[in-house]
Amino acid sequence: MPIPTDHPDRPIAWFGPHLSGGELDRLRGVLDRQYVNDGPLTREFERRIAAFVGTRHAIAVTSGTSAIALALMAADIGPGDEVMVPDLTFIATANAVRLAGATVKLVEVEPLRFGIDADAVEAAIGPRTRALITVDVNGRGADYSRLEPICDKVGIALICDAAEALGSRFAGRMLGSFGLAGCFSFSANKTITAGQGGMIVTDSDALHDRLRELKDQGRRRGGTGGDDDHPALGFNFKFTDLQAAVALAQFDEIESRLAAATRRDHAYAERLANQPGLRLPPFSETGEVRQWTDVLIEDRSGVAAALNAAEIGHRSFWHPLHRQVPYRMDDRGFAHSIDVSRRGLWLASRLDMTDSDINRVSEAVVAALRR
Ligand SMILES: Cc1ncc(COP(=O)(O)O)c(C=O)c1O
Repeated sequence: MPIPTDHPDRPIAWFGPHLSGGELDRLRGVLDRQYVNDGPLTREFERRIAAFVGTRHAIAVTSGTSAIALALMAADIGPGDEVMVPDLTFIATANAVRLAGATVKLVEVEPLRFGIDADAVEAAIGPRTRALITVDVNGRGADYSRLEPICDKVGIALICDAAEALGSRFAGRMLGSFGLAGCFSFSANKTITAGQGGMIVTDSDALHDRLRELKDQGRRRGGTGGDDDHPALGFNFKFTDLQAAVALAQFDEIESRLAAATRRDHAYAERLANQPGLRLPPFSETGEVRQWTDVLIEDRSGVAAALNAAEIGHRSFWHPLHRQVPYRMDDRGFAHSIDVSRRGLWLASRLDMTDSDINRVSEAVVAALRR
């Protein structure tokens, strides 16, 4: 990864994309073969992700959103069914449920790890509930030690939105590998990007077979586009070998990228410890890797203004979904989600940030807190 020029006044970007420089070689191979559709390189990318996450299968699709929607459809969840979704997530999680035709049931989150709250999940299960979608927010695993047994006991599908959690672990186990299926995203601000793209990982042969049909017009294997058999209903959610070339070049560096994220988080944690008005949400040391460095700040708008003035990138946490128009509900039962949304900030988190970049961001934050 190219090292940025270490100029004290240069703007600091919030995050990626992080291109490796190896993409062109891989892309040239695809162009030389003249096979740009979902083909051999996509299969290689799927095999590498499955081996990395530790699942039997991986199926590449067009986006993280379609990965979640297709996982639901493959589990035969759709119109008339209800799916539990945490109130604090990127809206794609809920939109994917709607894309599958099911109804969204919003559920409260944990105050410090931001995953869906297990007690609230138990209370929200109703007669039409068919699935729970957990979100591993920013690489922090949802509480699978409680959520998996709840889903097993009630007999509902557990689908993990691990869009922000590639390579991160919960209690030592790779995120994405819990439950029936895990879904990843390769959009521009993820550890690995293909521009757009997604992946479903699963141990279930039946789910895998249905997903192959769903992503390719009902065919289990690539056909001619002519006199093929289409034994099932499916659509077009295929990946392309052009995207696989870009993603694989970055995936070759996955371990160093995860190590860089961990180093960055530790460096921030040292510099921002014990600052009044700022809380560092805890992270576990059992292989958890955060996509971005997150903090909870009482006067978030003051800190954000100071960072803007210093041309330092940052992002505020999402609004609670129950305050977005398509999912509008009153605030009752969402105190944590509202509070985390109000205080949460992702600091500049590029994987190639230098120590002096991290110092600059931290000093700007601390100065703003003292004002
Ligand atoms: C938590 C979460 N879920 C789902 C998605 C959707 O992924 P995509 O943008 O690839 O559709 C994203 C990322 O964009 C995400 O951060």
